[in-house]
Amino acid sequence: MQLVNSRRFYRIEAMENRTILLPNGELIPVIGFGTWQAPESELQDALEVALEAGYRHIDTAPVYENEKVIGNVLKKWFTSGKLKRSDVFVVTKLPPVANRAEDVEKWIEKSLGDLQLEYLDLYLIHTPFGFAKSDGYELYPLDDDDLVKLDYGTDHVKVWAAMEKQVERGRTKAIGLSNFNISQIERVLENATISVSMLQIELHAYFQQRKLVSFCKSKNIPITAYSPLGSRGFVKVMNKEGAVPDILKNETVLEIAKTYKKTAAQILLRYLLQNNFIVIPKSTNPQRIKENIQLFGWEIGEKDMEKLKQLDLDDSGRIVNFDFFKGLRRHPEFPF
Ligand code: A2P
Repeated sequence: MQLVNSRRFYRIEAMENRTILLPNGELIPVIGFGTWQAPESELQDALEVALEAGYRHIDTAPVYENEKVIGNVLKKWFTSGKLKRSDVFVVTKLPPVANRAEDVEKWIEKSLGDLQLEYLDLYLIHTPFGFAKSDGYELYPLDDDDLVKLDYGTDHVKVWAAMEKQVERGRTKAIGLSNFNISQIERVLENATISVSMLQIELHAYFQQRKLVSFCKSKNIPITAYSPLGSRGFVKVMNKEGAVPDILKNETVLEIAKTYKKTAAQILLRYLLQNNFIVIPKSTNPQRIKENIQLFGWEIGEKDMEKLKQLDLDDSGRIVNFDFFKGLRRHPEFPF
């Protein structure tokens, strides 16, 4: 097959190899193990199950407060020879409290230390907004009213230049963005020397982000879909269970699941993979961890793909709007 430049060829190749080629020349496994909302107490066993099940991409962040346990499990797997460092793709992020050029090095070093790694595969700016500088490694500097203190001077161009230095120094192979909007990404691109290798955003069948997705396609920026199952764990924590429809119980999804003899979660994840997204479902339940990676060797047909496309609720499908940080919308770089 010589159709190397054909979109379809690229997609099938990527699916068979279960990886996608990043702009920096590295391969990223299309299914990652999401760890947002996974407390350390549950994550150790869950990560063991995930690695045994074949996950080779782990997504974390300092704000998830679980990098240390991930580091311990990885070290065990490396020491026992079950895994080599190059077998696993590790992603972590610059937290909002460090969203300024001078803090990038300190925080990437901290993540590398906690993860017990020499280098990261991908380092993302977690959010376009920034919190005020804090002492030590505090993640949420609060004012007297317990509101998170904001840094109104966040400068993405300067932060990106500091991220580029981390690539040059070998601390990370690739760099990217998370939760940025189109104009914010454009500004970074206009000033970047090293390509934006990833945009990580909330993306699921109820929230398909068409404009942002087509912008990223035009700029060759791959997309990782976070909360690909609609993040029920987060919805529960926010006490919004009644207000936010559960995509895992959507009738169309359940009907399609029946047709293919798959679960609703598998249909939702496979739908995203067939649209060329990378997915990072979170689970700490052994059975669901295994279920969420069994996405190969079968395909959703065109008609059913179209039905899933129709489930998009546009902007009202967004779940993670950061409203849990009161007053955050006053930040000039609030993205939504
Ligand atoms: P649990 O960890 O108990 O499995 P998202 O990745 O969209 O944020 O979704 C994560 C939420 O969905 C978590 O609450 C997780 O709970 C749950 N979940 C993960 N995988 C599945 C699955 N296959 N079926 C149903 N719920 C799932």
